[in-house]
Amino acid sequence: MSQHILILAGDGIGPEIMAAAEKVLNRVNDKFALDFTWSHGLLGGSAIDAHGVPLPDVTLDAAKKADAVLLGAVGGPKWDAIERSIRPERGLLKIRSELNLFANLRPAILYPQLADASSLKPEIVAGLDILIVRELTGGIYFGQPRGIRVLENGEKQGFNTDVYSESEIKRIAKVAFDMAALRGGKVCSIDKANVLEVTELWKQTVTDLAAAEYPEIKLSHMYVDNAAMQLVKNPKQFDVLVTGNLFGDILSDEAAMLTGSIGMLPSASLDANGKGMYEPCHGSAPDIAGQDLANPLATILSVAMMLRYTFKQEDAAKAIETAVGVVLDQGLRTGDIMSAGMTKIGTQAMGEAVLKALG
Ligand code: IPM
Ligand code: MG
Repeated sequence: MSQHILILAGDGIGPEIMAAAEKVLNRVNDKFALDFTWSHGLLGGSAIDAHGVPLPDVTLDAAKKADAVLLGAVGGPKWDAIERSIRPERGLLKIRSELNLFANLRPAILYPQLADASSLKPEIVAGLDILIVRELTGGIYFGQPRGIRVLENGEKQGFNTDVYSESEIKRIAKVAFDMAALRGGKVCSIDKANVLEVTELWKQTVTDLAAAEYPEIKLSHMYVDNAAMQLVKNPKQFDVLVTGNLFGDILSDEAAMLTGSIGMLPSASLDANGKGMYEPCHGSAPDIAGQDLANPLATILSVAMMLRYTFKQEDAAKAIETAVGVVLDQGLRTGDIMSAGMTKIGTQAMGEAVLKALG
């Protein structure tokens, strides 16, 4: 049976990197006889321009019907001054929430070919392969009450609520444990249990679940401030990290930077049934948009993640990842990962090189 993918290229460099990724999707579709179909929709700034809102109903309906969503990036200075409730980022948060994409997988892998690109010493990061499992539809991002109110003395006060229920904690911890079982068997749960009750419950719930259902997993706990430090001090001590929405947002950027190029990192956001939205970890980079400078590899690798997690097409996923490795071995680099002696190429040429390597 044919399966359908909704492509949301988004803003900034989104359309360029997606054009390259779509060619790769097309190629694997033929090569592995996958019977995928896909269509396009608007999300973020481009949707605000066309429909006045960042997540139009037509996009949300299409996303709900699709088997997977492939996303470029959203946002840019053009929409920065817009009222908070309809900013591009709100579209992203709403689609995550409406599709129940509670499990965000953000791998940070250092490609050996790019060891020089990291700002850390090669011996600290060589061989780095960690996975951040970030809760994506709860916590302080969505907690109520929230807002900006005016106090009696006329002063404004901003407030948000960090909230997690046991069931929300359990379902994300399960994802982390299941992922760890397929990798190094270690999970480090990140909290701030010394200060915040919400993460005290987090820590206890994760501990109880591990004891009851995952005795083979090596579980440890770390305060988020220490985790931020350990990630730069000795990142290879980690296998899988699991944490809430806000800590995960911050730590995943830090982990991505350890690898030297956020332009290389894909991500997956999954619901309980394996449906997912796949997107590069980087943003819309408006400063280089439309100039054929962006690195399309994170989006191309997001296609690989989609094939693996939603469609269970491991061979096709591996073929894409191998092709990316071949292209790096050939010395081909976009500007963000350029180093001495390599060949600098543009977005579309990088996409073509991956196609060629795919055969
Ligand atoms: C991310 C981004 C988003 C987030 C923004 C754009 C709302 O930083 O995906 O990490 O904070 O989740
Ligand atoms: Mg972020």
